[in-house]
Amino acid sequence: MGRIRVLSDHVANKIAAGEVVERPASVVKELLENSLDAGATNIRVEIENGGRRLIRVADDGCGMLRDDALLAFERHATSKLHDVKDLLSIATLGFRGEALPSIASVSRVLLETRSPDEQTGTRVEIAGGRILTCDEIARDVGTAIAVRDLFFNVPARKKFLRSEQTELAHIASLVTHYSLAHPDKTFELWNGGANLLHATPVETLRERVFQVFGGQLLEDLIELQPQSRRLQMPEPDEPARTYSVCGFVSRPQVQKNNRNSIFVFVNGRLIRDRLVLHALSSAYHNLMPQACYPFALLFLDCDCEEVDVNVHPSKTEVRFRHQSWVHDFVRDAVREQLMLSRPAPSFTPGMPGPNPLPYSDFSQILQNETAGASLPATVPEYTLLPPAPPPARFDFGDAAIPLSEPVKEEPLRLRVPDTHGGFPDGALPASHDMTRIGELRPLGQLHGSFIIAAGTDGLWIIDQHVAHERILFEQVLKQQAAGRVEVQHLLMPVILQLTPEQQIEYARIADELHNSGFETEPFGNRTIAVKAAPAAVGQGDLERVILEILEIAENELRSVSISDLRRGIAASIACRAAIKINTPLDQRKMEWMLRTLAATDYPMACPHGRPVALQYSTRDILKSFHRI
Ligand SMILES: Nc1ncnc2c1ncn2[C@@H]1O[C@H](COP(=O)(O)OP(=O)(O)O)[C@@H](O)[C@H]1O
Ligand SMILES: [Mg+2]
Repeated sequence: MGRIRVLSDHVANKIAAGEVVERPASVVKELLENSLDAGATNIRVEIENGGRRLIRVADDGCGMLRDDALLAFERHATSKLHDVKDLLSIATLGFRGEALPSIASVSRVLLETRSPDEQTGTRVEIAGGRILTCDEIARDVGTAIAVRDLFFNVPARKKFLRSEQTELAHIASLVTHYSLAHPDKTFELWNGGANLLHATPVETLRERVFQVFGGQLLEDLIELQPQSRRLQMPEPDEPARTYSVCGFVSRPQVQKNNRNSIFVFVNGRLIRDRLVLHALSSAYHNLMPQACYPFALLFLDCDCEEVDVNVHPSKTEVRFRHQSWVHDFVRDAVREQLMLSRPAPSFTPGMPGPNPLPYSDFSQILQNETAGASLPATVPEYTLLPPAPPPARFDFGDAAIPLSEPVKEEPLRLRVPDTHGGFPDGALPASHDMTRIGELRPLGQLHGSFIIAAGTDGLWIIDQHVAHERILFEQVLKQQAAGRVEVQHLLMPVILQLTPEQQIEYARIADELHNSGFETEPFGNRTIAVKAAPAAVGQGDLERVILEILEIAENELRSVSISDLRRGIAASIACRAAIKINTPLDQRKMEWMLRTLAATDYPMACPHGRPVALQYSTRDILKSFHRI
């Protein structure tokens, strides 16, 4: 007798479940997609215990006939696909007929449904893939599927589940983003009786973004007006294809350190796609430092034949028929609109601009410097960091450098310090011997932003914002460790609106916020009241600092350690509180800055790793003047 046997459906389903049901959020995704495919306009998601105890999705879609309600749990049973030809043009989110049997094989499912074509509804109860009961019930048209005790019969899987908050954050992200893809529908998300999201129908994507993320984020976003492009087919009888893209992308100064804020929908399906991500990065080329990412909400639509969605069991990947064409289309569409909405310069000499991101103001400086150069006027080439201009660009003619104290001539045959090896351009991120910083003599400022200082070993350029950031960062860390952050009570509490995800992060890190000097309180629906804050943070920066901290927490979902979180909080406070670029400093302040910087534990870099100072060694200066 042969050894090969065909697996029973029961086993096959459990295997498929391994691919389809990775975590609670994947169950939510499948159920949401089914509701959308059923034409629902009201979708309510309820979660308990991060989705382990309960995930329930209820909709007012087309419901199921009694026979179908049972069939739906059979492997490869689907109403969305009839024959193999249909696979080439899938217009629904589901098509594999795998989700329900997979989910049912690893949980206890209760399905309640009614189609408008039947007078009564149906209730089916299944546990571990076995049907327990099937009854007639009275209910409205639509479907509710409750999934309890996920992985109760797969202990190995259960062990790998992340914390309740982590799972919940994933679910919140998912529901939030599906709600963005359907502004005309109602989405609700409830967690253990608390409402995390309630988005009612609105006319435009913009209004939905406002509902979900609030006005603050909207200010940082550029709306991509719908753009279409036609792709001619090589065969004359094949009709041309039309692609279109719309959505929102962030202004270049919004810089995220991971891709968590990029959401791409292809024909209404939330996907992860390297090609589109790459296209997006290319659109921001030169507008943003390399390791930074924007916020993006992209809706790419095309003919169903142009994209193969049958690539992965969880349907999160797609394959485009014309990859490089799609890449260029997305890149150009995003880039073009980024250019069009070039941020208005917010630079007033002597006053920090209203934009709280300290580096954004460099755009103006660089614009001034490149004015008349070969750059087309619309290309904002702000290469932000590290600014390492060749010495020839130095504008010492600028009267900003106070010469009241005449620069003492250095004797030419002085002790020449070692070169730092192989940097012919002269400027080096200063990394050695930073304690000497305390002995430097400030000569003045360049662009009101960089302190120029002379030392026995050459010329130094210190980024005043970054230097101050380092000083404050260490100060806040010490205060945190000692449990005595200097706190300032606000006359009027600042009220902040949070997204569902932020709300979850907030609950998770509220204690640590308190330890760092933020007194906050939940204040109704996804809103918190901030009553006190670290004294270093100005009230105008408060909202940003807190949102930034929530984002740090979110980014470190997987490896959140208290010390990482504290460092993140300290870095965020320091960055906001540090003096901005383009701020005149008098001699005393510059001296204070250099002395205090020299006394820090690690004066070479800001908490984010940017260099604090550049050094032109005397030797290189001498060499450049052909003196040695
Ligand atoms: N919320 C729902 N409303 C109406 N019908 C549903 C719903 N969820 C599932 N179904 C039916 O059950 C079938 C099987 O669902 P599923 O296993 O997710 O496979 P697929 O979505 O790939 O068809 C669907 O094709 C659909 O006919
Ligand atoms: Mg489905």
